[in-house]
Amino acid sequence: MKEDRREGFGSSFGVLVAMAGSAVGLGNLWRFPYLVGQNGGAAFIIIYLVFVVLFCMPIMFSEFIIGRRGMANVTRSFSNLAPHSGWWIVGALGVLTAFLILSFYSVVGGWSIRYLVNALQFKFNQNGMDGFGATFNSFITNRTQPVFYHLLFILATGTVVVLGVKKGIEKFSKLMMPLLFVLVLLIAIRSLTMSGSGEGIRYMFRPDFSKVNSQTIIAALGQSFFSLSLGMGTVITYASYVSKEENIIKCSTLTAVSDTIFAIIAGCAIMPAVFAFGLSPQEGPGLVFVTLPYIFANMPLGGVVAILFFLSLFLAALTSAISLLEVIISFATEELHINRKLAVYGSIVVISLSGALCSYSLSEGTRLIIGGKPLFDFLDATTSNYLMTVGGILIVLFTGWKLGKRAVFDELTNQGKLGIPRWLLEVVLFTMRFIAPAAVAAIIIF
Ligand code: PHE
Repeated sequence: MKEDRREGFGSSFGVLVAMAGSAVGLGNLWRFPYLVGQNGGAAFIIIYLVFVVLFCMPIMFSEFIIGRRGMANVTRSFSNLAPHSGWWIVGALGVLTAFLILSFYSVVGGWSIRYLVNALQFKFNQNGMDGFGATFNSFITNRTQPVFYHLLFILATGTVVVLGVKKGIEKFSKLMMPLLFVLVLLIAIRSLTMSGSGEGIRYMFRPDFSKVNSQTIIAALGQSFFSLSLGMGTVITYASYVSKEENIIKCSTLTAVSDTIFAIIAGCAIMPAVFAFGLSPQEGPGLVFVTLPYIFANMPLGGVVAILFFLSLFLAALTSAISLLEVIISFATEELHINRKLAVYGSIVVISLSGALCSYSLSEGTRLIIGGKPLFDFLDATTSNYLMTVGGILIVLFTGWKLGKRAVFDELTNQGKLGIPRWLLEVVLFTMRFIAPAAVAAIIIF
Protein backbone atom coordinates (compact mmCIF):
# COMPACT_ATOMS: atom_id res chain seq x y z
CA MET A 1 0.00 0.00 0.00
CA LYS A 2 3.08 2.21 0.04
CA GLU A 3 2.82 5.43 -1.95
CA ASP A 4 6.02 5.64 -3.96
CA ARG A 5 5.95 9.12 -5.27
CA ARG A 6 4.57 11.11 -2.39
CA GLU A 7 5.76 14.65 -2.11
CA GLY A 8 7.46 15.76 1.09
CA PHE A 9 8.88 18.71 2.99
CA GLY A 10 12.30 19.81 1.81
CA SER A 11 13.98 20.76 5.08
CA SER A 12 13.72 20.59 8.86
CA PHE A 13 13.07 24.30 8.99
CA GLY A 14 10.25 23.82 6.50
CA VAL A 15 8.66 21.17 8.72
CA LEU A 16 8.96 23.37 11.77
CA VAL A 17 7.44 26.48 10.19
CA ALA A 18 4.60 24.49 8.66
CA MET A 19 3.83 22.82 12.01
CA ALA A 20 4.12 26.13 13.83
CA GLY A 21 1.97 27.73 11.14
CA SER A 22 -0.76 25.24 11.89
CA ALA A 23 -0.46 25.75 15.64
CA VAL A 24 -0.19 29.54 15.71
CA GLY A 25 -3.59 30.93 14.84
CA LEU A 26 -6.69 32.64 16.13
CA GLY A 27 -6.36 30.58 19.29
CA ASN A 28 -3.15 32.40 20.17
CA LEU A 29 -4.24 35.87 19.24
CA TRP A 30 -7.74 36.09 20.58
CA ARG A 31 -8.23 33.44 23.21
CA PHE A 32 -4.98 32.83 25.00
CA PRO A 33 -4.36 36.39 26.28
CA TYR A 34 -7.91 36.65 27.54
CA LEU A 35 -7.97 33.21 29.17
CA VAL A 36 -4.71 33.92 30.94
CA GLY A 37 -6.00 37.15 32.42
CA GLN A 38 -9.33 35.72 33.41
CA ASN A 39 -8.02 32.57 34.99
CA GLY A 40 -5.36 33.86 37.31
CA GLY A 41 -2.47 35.06 35.12
CA ALA A 42 0.71 33.11 35.73
CA ALA A 43 -1.32 30.48 37.57
CA PHE A 44 -3.12 29.68 34.31
CA ILE A 45 0.12 29.76 32.33
CA ILE A 46 1.62 27.18 34.70
CA ILE A 47 -1.40 24.87 34.39
CA TYR A 48 -1.40 25.34 30.64
CA LEU A 49 2.29 24.43 30.45
CA VAL A 50 1.78 21.34 32.59
CA PHE A 51 -1.00 20.21 30.24
CA VAL A 52 1.14 20.90 27.21
CA VAL A 53 3.98 18.77 28.62
CA LEU A 54 1.94 15.95 30.15
CA PHE A 55 -0.93 15.57 27.70
CA CYS A 56 -0.21 17.44 24.51
CA MET A 57 3.37 16.37 23.92
CA PRO A 58 2.57 12.62 24.08
CA ILE A 59 -0.31 13.21 21.67
CA MET A 60 1.87 15.21 19.33
CA PHE A 61 4.58 12.53 19.36
CA SER A 62 1.88 9.97 18.67
CA GLU A 63 0.51 11.87 15.70
CA PHE A 64 4.02 12.33 14.38
CA ILE A 65 4.70 8.61 14.70
CA ILE A 66 1.42 7.61 13.05
CA GLY A 67 1.91 9.98 10.13
CA ARG A 68 5.55 9.31 9.47
CA ARG A 69 5.26 5.56 9.86
CA GLY A 70 1.88 5.31 8.14
CA MET A 71 3.12 7.42 5.23
CA ALA A 72 -0.32 8.42 4.00
CA ASN A 73 -3.35 10.58 4.65
CA VAL A 74 -4.94 10.41 8.07
CA THR A 75 -7.25 7.43 7.43
CA ARG A 76 -4.79 5.36 5.47
CA SER A 77 -1.97 6.02 7.92
CA PHE A 78 -4.09 4.15 10.46
CA SER A 79 -5.02 1.34 8.11
CA ASN A 80 -1.42 0.95 6.92
CA LEU A 81 -0.32 0.52 10.52
CA ALA A 82 -3.26 -1.62 11.66
CA PRO A 83 -4.65 -3.39 8.61
CA HIS A 84 -8.04 -5.10 8.87
CA SER A 85 -9.02 -3.17 11.96
CA GLY A 86 -11.45 -0.36 12.63
CA TRP A 87 -8.76 2.18 13.59
CA TRP A 88 -9.09 4.01 10.27
CA ILE A 89 -12.33 5.41 11.73
CA VAL A 90 -10.24 7.63 14.03
CA GLY A 91 -8.72 9.04 10.85
CA ALA A 92 -12.12 9.53 9.26
CA LEU A 93 -13.22 11.38 12.38
CA GLY A 94 -10.19 13.63 11.88
CA VAL A 95 -11.19 14.47 8.31
CA LEU A 96 -14.70 15.30 9.49
CA THR A 97 -13.34 17.46 12.32
CA ALA A 98 -11.03 19.30 9.91
CA PHE A 99 -14.01 20.06 7.71
CA LEU A 100 -16.12 21.30 10.62
CA ILE A 101 -13.37 23.49 12.06
CA LEU A 102 -12.57 24.93 8.66
CA SER A 103 -16.24 25.84 8.18
CA PHE A 104 -16.32 28.32 11.05
CA TYR A 105 -12.61 29.14 11.23
CA SER A 106 -12.57 30.47 7.68
CA VAL A 107 -15.54 32.70 8.41
CA VAL A 108 -13.41 34.42 11.05
CA GLY A 109 -10.55 34.42 8.55
CA GLY A 110 -12.91 36.37 6.29
CA TRP A 111 -13.60 38.88 9.05
CA SER A 112 -9.84 39.41 9.38
CA ILE A 113 -9.64 40.27 5.66
CA ARG A 114 -12.49 42.74 6.00
CA TYR A 115 -10.80 44.44 8.95
CA LEU A 116 -7.46 44.45 7.17
CA VAL A 117 -9.13 46.24 4.27
CA ASN A 118 -10.64 48.74 6.72
CA ALA A 119 -7.24 49.26 8.32
CA LEU A 120 -5.58 49.84 4.97
CA GLN A 121 -8.14 52.56 4.29
CA PHE A 122 -7.55 54.05 7.75
CA LYS A 123 -11.21 53.57 8.40
CA PHE A 124 -11.27 53.15 12.16
CA ASN A 125 -12.79 56.48 13.09
CA GLN A 126 -16.06 55.88 14.93
CA ASN A 127 -16.74 57.54 18.19
CA GLY A 128 -16.64 55.40 21.26
CA MET A 129 -16.68 51.71 21.84
CA ASP A 130 -20.40 51.36 21.13
CA GLY A 131 -19.85 52.53 17.59
CA PHE A 132 -17.25 49.81 17.02
CA GLY A 133 -19.48 47.21 18.64
CA ALA A 134 -22.41 48.18 16.44
CA THR A 135 -20.30 48.17 13.29
CA PHE A 136 -18.94 44.72 14.05
CA ASN A 137 -22.37 43.37 14.89
CA SER A 138 -24.00 44.69 11.80
CA PHE A 139 -21.13 43.30 9.70
CA ILE A 140 -21.21 39.74 11.02
CA THR A 141 -25.00 39.53 11.04
CA ASN A 142 -25.22 40.80 7.48
CA ARG A 143 -26.25 38.01 5.14
CA THR A 144 -23.95 38.66 2.21
CA GLN A 145 -20.83 40.66 3.16
CA PRO A 146 -19.15 38.20 5.52
CA VAL A 147 -19.90 35.39 3.09
CA PHE A 148 -18.02 37.28 0.41
CA TYR A 149 -14.96 37.75 2.65
CA HIS A 150 -15.17 34.14 3.76
CA LEU A 151 -15.00 33.14 0.12
CA LEU A 152 -11.90 35.29 -0.36
CA PHE A 153 -10.29 33.64 2.64
CA ILE A 154 -10.98 30.10 1.52
CA LEU A 155 -9.76 30.96 -1.98
CA ALA A 156 -6.52 32.27 -0.50
CA THR A 157 -6.18 29.03 1.47
CA GLY A 158 -6.83 26.94 -1.63
CA THR A 159 -4.34 28.94 -3.68
CA VAL A 160 -1.51 27.88 -1.38
CA VAL A 161 -2.65 24.29 -0.92
CA VAL A 162 -3.13 23.64 -4.63
CA LEU A 163 0.59 24.29 -5.18
CA GLY A 164 1.44 21.24 -3.10
CA VAL A 165 3.41 20.53 0.04
CA LYS A 166 6.83 21.81 -0.92
CA LYS A 167 6.03 24.60 -3.35
CA GLY A 168 2.86 25.69 -1.60
CA ILE A 169 2.66 24.99 2.12
CA GLU A 170 6.38 24.89 2.91
CA LYS A 171 7.39 27.86 0.81
CA PHE A 172 4.53 30.00 2.06
CA SER A 173 5.15 29.12 5.71
CA LYS A 174 8.87 29.84 5.38
CA LEU A 175 8.08 33.37 4.23
CA MET A 176 5.08 34.14 6.38
CA MET A 177 5.89 32.69 9.79
CA PRO A 178 9.02 34.80 10.36
CA LEU A 179 7.08 37.83 9.08
CA LEU A 180 4.21 37.07 11.43
CA PHE A 181 6.60 36.80 14.35
CA VAL A 182 8.20 40.17 13.59
CA LEU A 183 4.81 41.85 13.16
CA VAL A 184 3.51 40.66 16.50
CA LEU A 185 6.79 41.60 18.17
CA LEU A 186 6.49 45.15 16.77
CA ILE A 187 2.95 45.46 18.05
CA ALA A 188 4.07 44.20 21.46
CA ILE A 189 6.81 46.83 21.61
CA ARG A 190 4.35 49.57 20.70
CA SER A 191 1.86 48.33 23.25
CA LEU A 192 4.38 47.95 26.06
CA THR A 193 5.67 51.48 25.57
CA MET A 194 2.28 53.09 26.17
CA SER A 195 1.87 54.78 29.50
CA GLY A 196 -0.31 52.73 31.81
CA SER A 197 0.60 49.47 30.11
CA GLY A 198 1.92 47.95 33.36
CA GLU A 199 -1.56 47.00 34.49
CA GLY A 200 -1.94 44.81 31.40
CA ILE A 201 1.27 42.99 32.19
CA ARG A 202 0.06 42.44 35.73
CA TYR A 203 -3.23 41.10 34.36
CA MET A 204 -1.33 38.59 32.25
CA PHE A 205 1.33 37.48 34.65
CA ARG A 206 0.32 38.05 38.28
CA PRO A 207 -0.20 34.55 39.67
CA ASP A 208 -3.57 34.34 41.36
CA PHE A 209 -4.36 30.79 42.33
CA SER A 210 -7.66 31.83 43.91
CA LYS A 211 -9.08 32.17 40.39
CA VAL A 212 -8.25 28.59 39.54
CA ASN A 213 -11.29 26.28 39.56
CA SER A 214 -12.70 23.41 37.53
CA GLN A 215 -13.58 25.81 34.70
CA THR A 216 -9.95 26.90 34.56
CA ILE A 217 -8.81 23.32 34.14
CA ILE A 218 -11.24 22.70 31.30
CA ALA A 219 -10.38 25.99 29.64
CA ALA A 220 -6.67 25.18 29.82
CA LEU A 221 -7.20 21.71 28.37
CA GLY A 222 -9.43 22.85 25.50
CA GLN A 223 -7.08 25.70 24.71
CA SER A 224 -3.98 23.50 24.68
CA PHE A 225 -5.57 21.02 22.23
CA PHE A 226 -6.95 23.70 19.98
CA SER A 227 -3.83 25.81 20.00
CA LEU A 228 -1.53 22.91 19.16
CA SER A 229 -3.94 21.63 16.46
CA LEU A 230 -4.11 18.21 18.12
CA GLY A 231 -6.46 15.27 18.04
CA MET A 232 -7.74 15.56 14.50
CA GLY A 233 -4.94 14.72 12.13
CA THR A 234 -3.17 17.89 11.01
CA VAL A 235 0.02 16.67 12.65
CA ILE A 236 -0.51 13.16 11.23
CA THR A 237 -0.97 14.60 7.76
CA TYR A 238 2.04 16.90 7.92
CA ALA A 239 4.17 14.16 9.51
CA SER A 240 3.41 11.88 6.58
CA TYR A 241 5.46 14.32 4.47
CA VAL A 242 8.40 14.33 6.89
CA SER A 243 11.65 12.50 6.22
CA LYS A 244 12.83 9.53 8.26
CA GLU A 245 15.82 11.59 9.39
CA GLU A 246 13.76 14.17 11.25
CA ASN A 247 13.98 14.12 15.07
CA ILE A 248 10.37 13.75 16.22
CA ILE A 249 10.88 14.75 19.84
CA LYS A 250 12.87 17.83 18.89
CA CYS A 251 10.48 18.99 16.19
CA SER A 252 7.36 18.51 18.32
CA THR A 253 8.94 20.29 21.26
CA LEU A 254 10.02 23.22 19.10
CA THR A 255 6.51 23.48 17.68
CA ALA A 256 4.93 23.55 21.13
CA VAL A 257 7.52 26.03 22.41
CA SER A 258 7.02 28.40 19.46
CA ASP A 259 3.26 28.22 19.83
CA THR A 260 3.45 29.07 23.52
CA ILE A 261 5.99 31.86 23.06
CA PHE A 262 3.84 33.30 20.30
CA ALA A 263 0.76 33.21 22.50
CA ILE A 264 2.58 35.02 25.30
CA ILE A 265 3.92 37.68 22.94
CA ALA A 266 0.39 38.10 21.57
CA GLY A 267 -0.75 38.71 25.13
CA CYS A 268 1.97 41.34 25.53
CA ALA A 269 0.83 42.94 22.28
CA ILE A 270 -2.80 43.16 23.27
CA MET A 271 -3.31 43.44 27.02
CA PRO A 272 -1.01 46.38 27.84
CA ALA A 273 -2.81 48.49 25.23
CA VAL A 274 -6.23 47.44 26.52
CA PHE A 275 -5.30 48.45 30.05
CA ALA A 276 -3.51 51.60 28.99
CA PHE A 277 -6.94 52.70 27.74
CA GLY A 278 -8.58 51.70 30.97
CA LEU A 279 -10.69 49.09 29.18
CA SER A 280 -11.49 45.61 30.31
CA PRO A 281 -10.62 42.73 28.06
CA GLN A 282 -13.36 40.68 26.42
CA GLU A 283 -13.09 37.24 24.95
CA GLY A 284 -12.64 36.33 21.32
CA PRO A 285 -14.32 38.35 18.59
CA GLY A 286 -15.21 41.21 20.92
CA LEU A 287 -11.58 41.70 21.91
CA VAL A 288 -10.12 41.59 18.43
CA PHE A 289 -12.84 43.26 16.39
CA VAL A 290 -14.28 45.77 18.84
CA THR A 291 -11.88 46.66 21.65
CA LEU A 292 -8.75 46.72 19.53
CA PRO A 293 -10.16 48.82 16.66
CA TYR A 294 -11.28 51.34 19.27
CA ILE A 295 -7.75 51.42 20.65
CA PHE A 296 -6.20 51.70 17.19
CA ALA A 297 -8.46 54.65 16.45
CA ASN A 298 -7.29 56.44 19.56
CA MET A 299 -3.62 55.64 19.97
CA PRO A 300 -0.73 57.49 18.37
CA LEU A 301 0.43 55.52 15.30
CA GLY A 302 -2.74 53.47 15.68
CA GLY A 303 -3.46 53.42 11.95
CA VAL A 304 -0.20 51.65 11.24
CA VAL A 305 -0.54 49.30 14.19
CA ALA A 306 -4.02 48.36 12.95
CA ILE A 307 -2.59 47.31 9.60
CA LEU A 308 0.14 45.26 11.27
CA PHE A 309 -2.35 43.65 13.59
CA PHE A 310 -4.98 42.62 11.08
CA LEU A 311 -2.30 41.44 8.70
CA SER A 312 -0.97 39.23 11.52
CA LEU A 313 -4.43 37.95 12.30
CA PHE A 314 -5.02 37.11 8.67
CA LEU A 315 -1.68 35.33 8.24
CA ALA A 316 -2.03 33.39 11.47
CA ALA A 317 -5.50 32.23 10.48
CA LEU A 318 -4.37 31.44 6.95
CA THR A 319 -1.48 29.12 7.85
CA SER A 320 -3.80 27.26 10.25
CA ALA A 321 -6.53 26.95 7.64
CA ILE A 322 -3.95 25.62 5.18
CA SER A 323 -3.14 22.74 7.53
CA LEU A 324 -6.84 21.98 7.97
CA LEU A 325 -7.44 21.95 4.24
CA GLU A 326 -4.43 19.71 3.65
CA VAL A 327 -6.00 17.04 5.90
CA ILE A 328 -8.99 16.99 3.57
CA ILE A 329 -7.00 17.22 0.33
CA SER A 330 -4.58 14.42 1.16
CA PHE A 331 -7.59 12.26 2.02
CA ALA A 332 -9.42 13.17 -1.18
CA THR A 333 -6.44 12.63 -3.47
CA GLU A 334 -5.34 9.33 -1.95
CA GLU A 335 -8.62 7.74 -1.00
CA LEU A 336 -11.03 9.13 -3.55
CA HIS A 337 -8.36 9.33 -6.29
CA ILE A 338 -9.24 12.87 -7.28
CA ASN A 339 -6.34 14.97 -8.56
CA ARG A 340 -5.05 17.71 -6.32
CA LYS A 341 -6.47 20.62 -8.30
CA LEU A 342 -9.92 19.16 -8.51
CA ALA A 343 -9.84 18.18 -4.84
CA VAL A 344 -8.94 21.73 -3.84
CA TYR A 345 -11.58 23.34 -6.07
CA GLY A 346 -14.21 20.87 -4.93
CA SER A 347 -13.36 21.49 -1.26
CA ILE A 348 -13.53 25.24 -1.83
CA VAL A 349 -17.06 24.86 -3.15
CA VAL A 350 -18.19 22.65 -0.26
CA ILE A 351 -16.54 24.82 2.41
CA SER A 352 -17.95 28.00 0.88
CA LEU A 353 -21.36 26.48 1.43
CA SER A 354 -20.77 25.15 4.94
CA GLY A 355 -19.04 28.40 5.89
CA ALA A 356 -21.94 30.42 4.48
CA LEU A 357 -24.27 28.42 6.71
CA CYS A 358 -22.08 29.18 9.74
CA SER A 359 -22.09 32.83 8.83
CA TYR A 360 -25.88 32.90 8.24
CA SER A 361 -26.36 31.28 11.62
CA LEU A 362 -25.20 34.57 13.17
CA SER A 363 -27.74 36.70 11.35
CA GLU A 364 -30.95 38.05 12.85
CA GLY A 365 -33.85 35.64 13.06
CA THR A 366 -31.76 32.71 11.87
CA ARG A 367 -33.11 29.21 12.15
CA LEU A 368 -29.68 27.62 12.14
CA ILE A 369 -29.67 26.97 15.87
CA ILE A 370 -28.44 23.69 17.34
CA GLY A 371 -28.66 22.95 21.05
CA GLY A 372 -29.61 26.57 21.74
CA LYS A 373 -26.56 27.96 19.92
CA PRO A 374 -26.06 29.31 16.42
CA LEU A 375 -24.42 26.68 14.18
CA PHE A 376 -21.22 28.76 14.27
CA ASP A 377 -20.86 28.53 18.06
CA PHE A 378 -22.07 24.96 18.15
CA LEU A 379 -19.27 23.84 15.81
CA ASP A 380 -16.70 25.88 17.69
CA ALA A 381 -17.65 24.28 21.01
CA THR A 382 -18.18 20.71 19.79
CA THR A 383 -14.94 20.46 17.86
CA SER A 384 -12.61 21.65 20.61
CA ASN A 385 -14.47 20.25 23.61
CA TYR A 386 -15.29 16.82 22.25
CA LEU A 387 -14.00 15.87 18.83
CA MET A 388 -10.41 16.97 19.36
CA THR A 389 -10.09 15.66 22.89
CA VAL A 390 -11.68 12.30 22.14
CA GLY A 391 -9.58 12.10 18.97
CA GLY A 392 -6.50 12.84 21.07
CA ILE A 393 -7.25 10.02 23.51
CA LEU A 394 -7.81 7.49 20.72
CA ILE A 395 -4.59 8.60 19.03
CA VAL A 396 -2.38 8.10 22.12
CA LEU A 397 -4.07 4.80 22.92
CA PHE A 398 -3.43 3.62 19.39
CA THR A 399 0.24 4.53 19.54
CA GLY A 400 0.89 3.39 23.10
CA TRP A 401 -0.95 0.06 22.94
CA LYS A 402 -1.68 -0.97 19.38
CA LEU A 403 1.57 0.12 17.75
CA GLY A 404 3.44 -0.63 20.93
CA LYS A 405 6.79 -0.08 22.52
CA ARG A 406 9.05 -1.30 19.72
CA ALA A 407 7.50 0.90 17.04
CA VAL A 408 7.36 3.94 19.31
CA PHE A 409 11.02 3.64 20.32
CA ASP A 410 12.08 2.98 16.72
CA GLU A 411 10.33 6.11 15.50
CA LEU A 412 11.45 8.36 18.33
CA THR A 413 15.09 7.31 17.97
CA ASN A 414 15.08 6.89 14.17
CA GLN A 415 15.92 3.20 14.48
CA GLY A 416 18.40 3.86 17.28
CA LYS A 417 20.33 6.48 15.32
CA LEU A 418 19.49 9.32 17.70
CA GLY A 419 21.02 8.91 21.12
CA ILE A 420 17.88 9.49 23.12
CA PRO A 421 18.19 8.26 26.72
CA ARG A 422 16.23 5.13 27.54
CA TRP A 423 14.54 6.69 30.58
CA LEU A 424 13.10 9.46 28.43
CA LEU A 425 11.64 6.94 26.02
CA GLU A 426 10.12 5.00 28.91
CA VAL A 427 8.61 8.17 30.35
CA VAL A 428 7.13 9.13 26.98
CA LEU A 429 5.63 5.67 26.54
CA PHE A 430 4.21 5.72 30.05
CA THR A 431 2.49 9.07 29.51
CA MET A 432 1.14 7.80 26.17
CA ARG A 433 -0.24 4.65 27.68
CA PHE A 434 -1.60 5.86 30.98
CA ILE A 435 -1.37 9.49 31.95
CA ALA A 436 -2.57 11.33 28.85
CA PRO A 437 -5.59 9.14 28.03
CA ALA A 438 -6.74 8.75 31.63
CA ALA A 439 -6.37 12.39 32.57
CA VAL A 440 -7.97 13.75 29.43
CA ALA A 441 -10.87 11.28 29.73
CA ALA A 442 -11.34 12.24 33.38
CA ILE A 443 -11.47 15.91 32.51
CA ILE A 444 -13.99 15.39 29.69
CA ILE A 445 -16.27 13.26 31.84
CA PHE A 446 -15.94 15.57 34.81
N1 PHE B 1 -4.17 25.84 16.23
C1 PHE B 1 -5.00 26.75 15.53
C2 PHE B 1 -5.19 28.03 16.36
O1 PHE B 1 -4.68 28.17 17.42
C3 PHE B 1 -6.34 26.18 15.19
C4 PHE B 1 -6.31 24.84 14.55
C5 PHE B 1 -6.95 23.79 15.13
C6 PHE B 1 -5.60 24.62 13.38
C7 PHE B 1 -6.90 22.52 14.59
C8 PHE B 1 -5.54 23.36 12.82
C9 PHE B 1 -6.18 22.33 13.42
O2 PHE B 1 -5.88 28.92 15.95
